[in-house]
Amino acid sequence: MEFHSFKTFEEMSAAAAGAIAKILRARPECILGLATGSSPVGTYDELARMHREEGLSFARCTTVNLDEYLGLPGTHPESYRFFMEKHLFSRVDIRRERTFVPDGTAADPAAECAAYDARLERLGGTDLQLLGIGPDGHIGFNEPDDVFTPQTHVVDLAPSTIEANSRFFESEADVPRKALTMGMRGILLSRRILLVASGPAKRKRIDEAFSGPVTPRLPASILQLHRDVTVLWSED
Ligand code: F6R
Repeated sequence: MEFHSFKTFEEMSAAAAGAIAKILRARPECILGLATGSSPVGTYDELARMHREEGLSFARCTTVNLDEYLGLPGTHPESYRFFMEKHLFSRVDIRRERTFVPDGTAADPAAECAAYDARLERLGGTDLQLLGIGPDGHIGFNEPDDVFTPQTHVVDLAPSTIEANSRFFESEADVPRKALTMGMRGILLSRRILLVASGPAKRKRIDEAFSGPVTPRLPASILQLHRDVTVLWSED
């Protein structure tokens, strides 16, 4: 694992966007695994700037997101589809039909999960997977558990995740209790993993995940098994 520490969120975000832009320039038809949450917002801002000012094009790439809240349509302001539209898709030249986010309103969520995995397999995995890390060490919405789940699946969100994500909703009661998340196989299939995180609490989780045992109780620890992981961390 390669670890890079930055003073500011802006510096970290510029480094993450630079790594993504490098792949996009070398292979315009690349497949990017994307994340939501606070951590990648600066990365998306910088990518949008590079599109605007430097002609960075997303026209030929495909994106596959990690997760979506169960029950939220893409028009809901807190859905992850909406987040991606707002922070990246509407600001660059990406083709919407090449953007994949699990459908939180699928009539049959299990079938949606299976179809999501089938697509990921067809694509051959992503070239780069952008990740954040949850306060409990989750990646995607793979919460601490007794086992690692390889497949895309419906998950009960941990109380700490519901509490952490309540900052985006009117109240904690409004946070969906379930989500669809890519499983560990989908994440590990990626050729390269780029994890972005900020602040002392996340730093502690990262240290535990990469220096302790590989355990589903700390989901990010599975990244020890991947051969190309870069962690970008900022102090603020
Ligand atoms: C989001 C996701 C989550 C977040 C994590 C950290 O698509 O998969 O694992 O990356 O909850 O969120 P922030 O960055 O908001 O602290």
